[in-house]
Amino acid sequence: MASSSYPSTSTCHRESRQPPTRLGVLGVGELAESLLVALARGCLRDGRSRHDLEFHLSPRNDVRSHRLGWRFGAVRHASNVAVCEASLCVLVGVRPQQLEALAMELRESRALSKDHHLMVMAAGVSLANLQRWFAPARVVRVMTGLAVSEGQSALTLYPEDPLTRDLLSPAVRQVIAFEEEAAFEASMLAVCVNAWQLAQQQALLDWFQTVPGITGPQARQLLMTQMRDALALMEAHPDTPPGELASRIGTPGTWTARGLEQLGGKDGAHHRWQQVLDGLRSELN
Ligand SMILES: NC(=O)c1ccc[n+]([C@@H]2O[C@H](COP(=O)([O-])OP(=O)(O)OC[C@H]3O[C@@H](n4cnc5c(N)ncnc54)[C@H](OP(=O)(O)O)[C@@H]3O)[C@@H](O)[C@H]2O)c1
Repeated sequence: MASSSYPSTSTCHRESRQPPTRLGVLGVGELAESLLVALARGCLRDGRSRHDLEFHLSPRNDVRSHRLGWRFGAVRHASNVAVCEASLCVLVGVRPQQLEALAMELRESRALSKDHHLMVMAAGVSLANLQRWFAPARVVRVMTGLAVSEGQSALTLYPEDPLTRDLLSPAVRQVIAFEEEAAFEASMLAVCVNAWQLAQQQALLDWFQTVPGITGPQARQLLMTQMRDALALMEAHPDTPPGELASRIGTPGTWTARGLEQLGGKDGAHHRWQQVLDGLRSELN
């Protein structure tokens, strides 16, 4: 993993050592709200007080802001500039196509200083562009998925940065930093996989419900158990490839083996998933 290009003694870091840590948010969208929920819960789980962490929110998104105010005491500001005045560490949650306009607004009002530390959640926008747009602030790229609010997710990071780790790690199970930006960009497709797997579960659920005598809730329980079992096996055997675990279950001559054969191979479902990933990755780069 790359070493941080930011000293851990930055103004922002010193501030984060003294309660309350103030985290600004520019763009209180769906993903930003999910991450804040996870962060607030994670900090409580780590034994920190609710008052150790303060969220400072940009305007717009009334419903989300009020919800975060009510749940976690988040402060809603009248302008984006006010958010930057209140907090040196700032999560940027606007959509990629909204980034340039936001950066222009902050530049024109000279809202950012070199002590600002921006954590930008946007696919397909390079760090070089972000640094140029949001200069003189320092910028890192982060990503997670909407399921982050459940507290089991990973947060990906480019480049490695101790301050971001320190600040956001209570929200997730793991922070994974990448040395190469192309790898970080591709890693975002893992977040998409999450939704595809859910859609796949739906297809399986639909099928099981066609079987006379299996109810919807029973089918759902059966499938959830299988997913938990698969996860448990992968966690129990971290050095064994999942394909090998599958083969150990699907020994020759079993029903499992017959299914594995049909789903694998050049025309199978697994290859189709790889093709989808290939196609999307080429669009991201
Ligand atoms: N949602 C997902 O499933 C998901 C999953 C993984 C990654 N992502 C990524 O996460 C990022 C955010 O996605 P999202 O789904 O959270 O988007 P979103 O719900 O649309 O949130 C973005 C919010 O930013 C606000 N905004 C835009 N420009 C602003 C400005 N200049 N000042 C203040 N607020 C501003 C928008 O307000 P208005 O509504 O008033 O325009 C919007 O509510 C994107 O890069 C997306 O690709 C999303």
